[in-house]
Amino acid sequence: MLRITLRQLRTFEAVARLSSFTAAAKEMHVSQPTVSKQIKVLHEEIGLPLIEQVGKKVFLTEAGEELYATCAEWLNTWGQFEQTIADYKGMKQGTLKISAVTTTKYFMPRILGPFCKQYPGIDIRLEVLNRDRILERLANNEDDLYIMGIPPEDIDVESEAFLPNPLVVLAPLSHPWARQKNIAFEELAHQQFLMRERGSGTRLTIERIFKERGVPLNVRMELGSNEAIKQAVIGGLGLAVLSGSTLSLAEDQSEMCFLDVEGFPIKRNWHIVKVSGKKLSVTAKTFLDFMREHTKLLLPSGE
Ligand code: PGA
Repeated sequence: MLRITLRQLRTFEAVARLSSFTAAAKEMHVSQPTVSKQIKVLHEEIGLPLIEQVGKKVFLTEAGEELYATCAEWLNTWGQFEQTIADYKGMKQGTLKISAVTTTKYFMPRILGPFCKQYPGIDIRLEVLNRDRILERLANNEDDLYIMGIPPEDIDVESEAFLPNPLVVLAPLSHPWARQKNIAFEELAHQQFLMRERGSGTRLTIERIFKERGVPLNVRMELGSNEAIKQAVIGGLGLAVLSGSTLSLAEDQSEMCFLDVEGFPIKRNWHIVKVSGKKLSVTAKTFLDFMREHTKLLLPSGE
């Protein structure tokens, strides 16, 4: 029987997940030598190297990969146990795991700020990734709740709309269509577009809309961030269709405008999603109620 402590496993999981001793030490609020020592003891106990360090880079060996997969599963189960105990005690405390698509970074921190203030015992782990990566996490049941634009059709989920997420066509102020009214959708076939990367929910929606309308979509450039796209629009590299959630009206409207294209803004909503039938912890329920309470006035009635 190996003599391995929970603490060593938590440390190893953090180093493997973050690919860094320094980041793991920071997350665990301990010094870097403490992390190195725990990993060394773990190496000795298991009798095989688990981590290889090349310069500042951290790589897992084959045994390390095995241990990481075991740790992740085991820590998840242990986390659920801790949560169940906290639930039995009726305590609003524990870890809440949320993953959210990239574009939500414009509003999620503003919701989480007051939530954390009201519930200081709840520790939030937020993953911000593009839609495809969030769907992977959802399929593996890795988090309590997921935030995205379009709930998946091929995974059994329960979803709830909580905020508007309109899509708008953005152009630089100098664009010849800037003041034009009622631009026909078909006209977009003659424009070049700046697009998010494949796997993005925004991109998926735009491609679907153009396909439905039978209008070709000319992609001038692919950029991995909404901010980079906005700057490229301002720089005159092309038009973009982005979520209105990415815009800060005062700042952005001094350099960009919305084009009045038929059918736009396309009305959509942000959704909070959970795996069907998943029993939510008290912390996840508390968060869901908080979201409903704080966003209900912002959603158009009837949704
Ligand atoms: P994205 O998702 O940030 O991956 O583009 C946005 C959405 O789902 O609407």
